[in-house]
Amino acid sequence: MTHYDLHDVSMPALGLGTWQMRGAEARRAVEHALAIGYRHVDTAAMYGNEAEVGAALAASGVPRADVFLTTKVWRDRVAPSKLGASADESLRALGTDYVDLLLLHWPNPEIELEAQLEALAAVREAGKARLIGVSNYPAEMLRDALELVPDLAVDQVEYHAALGQEPLLDLIRERGLVLTAYSPLAQGELLRNETVREIAEARGVGPAQVALAWLLGQDRVTAIPKASSDAHRQANLDAAELSLTDDERARLDALPKDRRTIDPAWGPDWNR
Ligand SMILES: NC(=O)c1ccc[n+]([C@@H]2O[C@H](COP(=O)([O-])OP(=O)(O)OC[C@H]3O[C@@H](n4cnc5c(N)ncnc54)[C@H](OP(=O)(O)O)[C@@H]3O)[C@@H](O)[C@H]2O)c1
Repeated sequence: MTHYDLHDVSMPALGLGTWQMRGAEARRAVEHALAIGYRHVDTAAMYGNEAEVGAALAASGVPRADVFLTTKVWRDRVAPSKLGASADESLRALGTDYVDLLLLHWPNPEIELEAQLEALAAVREAGKARLIGVSNYPAEMLRDALELVPDLAVDQVEYHAALGQEPLLDLIRERGLVLTAYSPLAQGELLRNETVREIAEARGVGPAQVALAWLLGQDRVTAIPKASSDAHRQANLDAAELSLTDDERARLDALPKDRRTIDPAWGPDWNR
């Protein structure tokens, strides 16, 4: 599997997404993922599963230093007076004294960006996050954030074969960040796409694997599919070793790139 070196921290290109998994299901999923070889787990304060993710990490026997762990600060806690406490609560729930990556979960225009980023950087300076970054920041917003903190490591956004991210990817590559693709299967919609299915059938693999291989074959792109079954988690991990041909890639490149599955009222202007 590809790993990206971000300020001396190694980030595996494929991780396990945990949104919408709670309680025993979340714990089992993370334990199983670690047992079969995942070394990158994505959670967030808002997911309500950090305690289970932490319990799974502890039970797995995998050394903490071998796992790339991401969490996020929810948008109502990005003010400087609140952000540090949110990070501390996440660490307590996760049972660890640092995360590998701490993200601002969504832009919040009500709080000055500089203040949010300073508070985020202070968590890193305190040794509680090895890397910091943002999520759901379109290209121009990321550019503004990089003016303030040039060494942000990651922007986590929706990205898959039915949604383009060209301006953001150009900036990410130019500035040495990584794009983490969330909802990399378009929340399951891509598995029904005819082109994806045809390629999968011809290659003797599953459609999810084709969708993930399209992402993971791109420079500076990582992906965090969520899978609640053992078989899906294994299939997705195997996709990290699948290479598509130029022709297969071209067919996926040619799909319409306008299907956004996550678009809440508080979301930014995606064209910025
Ligand atoms: N930063 C943000 O604002 C943000 C927003 C959304 C998501 N995320 C992160 O991104 C992660 C992934 O996104 P997502 O959960 O929205 O959607 P997703 O990963 O695109 O899709 C998940 C769906 O695909 C199915 N699936 C997974 N692997 C499969 C396989 N090999 N074969 C067939 N079906 C498969 C899952 O089914 P089963 O569960 O039944 O296996 C589930 O229904 C989240 O868990 C979260 O960590 C972040």
